[in-house]
Amino acid sequence: MKLIGPFKQILTLNNLPLRGKLSDEQLEIIENGGILINNDNLIEEVGDFEELVTLSGVEVSNSTTSQFSNSVVLPAFVDCHTHICFGGNRANDFAMRNAGKTYLEIAEKGGGIWSSVKHTRNASEKELLEKLLERINRLISLGITTIEIKSGYGLNVESELKMLRVIQQAQTKTKATLVPTCLSAHLKPRDFEGSNEEYLQYIVDEILPKVKEENLAKRVDIFIEKSAFQPEESRKFLEKAKELGFEITVHADQFTAGSSRIAVEVDAVSADHLEATIDEDIQYLANSETVAVALPGASLGLGEPFTPARKILDKNGILAIASDWNPGSAPMGNLITQASILATFQKLSTAEVLAGIAFRAAKALNLTDRGILKKGMKADFVVYETDNFQNILYNQGSLVASEVYIDGEKI
Ligand code: NIG
Ligand code: FE
Repeated sequence: MKLIGPFKQILTLNNLPLRGKLSDEQLEIIENGGILINNDNLIEEVGDFEELVTLSGVEVSNSTTSQFSNSVVLPAFVDCHTHICFGGNRANDFAMRNAGKTYLEIAEKGGGIWSSVKHTRNASEKELLEKLLERINRLISLGITTIEIKSGYGLNVESELKMLRVIQQAQTKTKATLVPTCLSAHLKPRDFEGSNEEYLQYIVDEILPKVKEENLAKRVDIFIEKSAFQPEESRKFLEKAKELGFEITVHADQFTAGSSRIAVEVDAVSADHLEATIDEDIQYLANSETVAVALPGASLGLGEPFTPARKILDKNGILAIASDWNPGSAPMGNLITQASILATFQKLSTAEVLAGIAFRAAKALNLTDRGILKKGMKADFVVYETDNFQNILYNQGSLVASEVYIDGEKI
């Protein structure tokens, strides 16, 4: 047994509903609390520090007791949507977009997703792994210990498998939990000779069986959008992926409405983006088990509207927030800053934001063992040197975590 604390405040996020709106009065705050960790590195108990000392019989030295007296602790965060395995950089796209160039003009000048595909295909596994680990470490330093990572910059058997193998290798070098997703259906690559439907069939026949065989991912994603894959061909593809045993997630309604419905109809674990979702579809999504994932980093990267997070919560949906960190539309990679900004524009309570980057984001990855500090949960938590939890979102990301723990160990 190991006892950590006492902390000025522990925000457990315990006893909050999975769906719908939340007020800050619902937050459980333990003053002068401790976290007791058992020999399986899981949380044994969270509660008053002195009571835990008595309960556990653990000896506490003076140096430990003064260390956290001005600290707030929360469950570590979950980033349930990223594209952080990539080669190259798209700073030039960003500059051109800000200078008023259109999507097409940027693509013609060698930018867009295709440029990341070329750089990722050309990168060695070693280069990709190095960059990926750098990004993972940056996320960990922000208190994020569970990270979803998509393929989707390979777009052929060889390079999609290379990306997923790199993610698998990264998992052997980090204590963070990585959740890989196969996004071969990001875009039909320019060098594929055939229709969209033929490319999707190629993924089903050539890529997914190998992904399964090597146990590289359990999830399949698709970008449904006018410029990528059309609704009906996407639905067929997703049904086939489901038949092969994959969980489904969808890039839905980013610029045009309609695809979040498909996500719900195929029982996707999450529908992500939703910047363009119409009211009727918000209602439909909010009535389902599919988690709605807001990606404020993409709104900020592209200058597009924010996901209607307020409406989703008011209609009792399950709302998570993720960074979408990628070289094109969302280069920032700071979930805390982005979630704080989304809160300002969408009028979200602190509880709604924290739930959205903790246990509600875990739900988007079908993980039920994290995102809440209570008995039996994974002992992943983040410590801030501050006397009040409100300071975290108030500082909009500039109050950086002072310590991050994974499985009860300081990273
Ligand atoms: O989630 N929308 C599609 N895919 C990514 C962008 C990828 C890129 O531009 O490289 C997204 O925003
Ligand atoms: Fe994305």
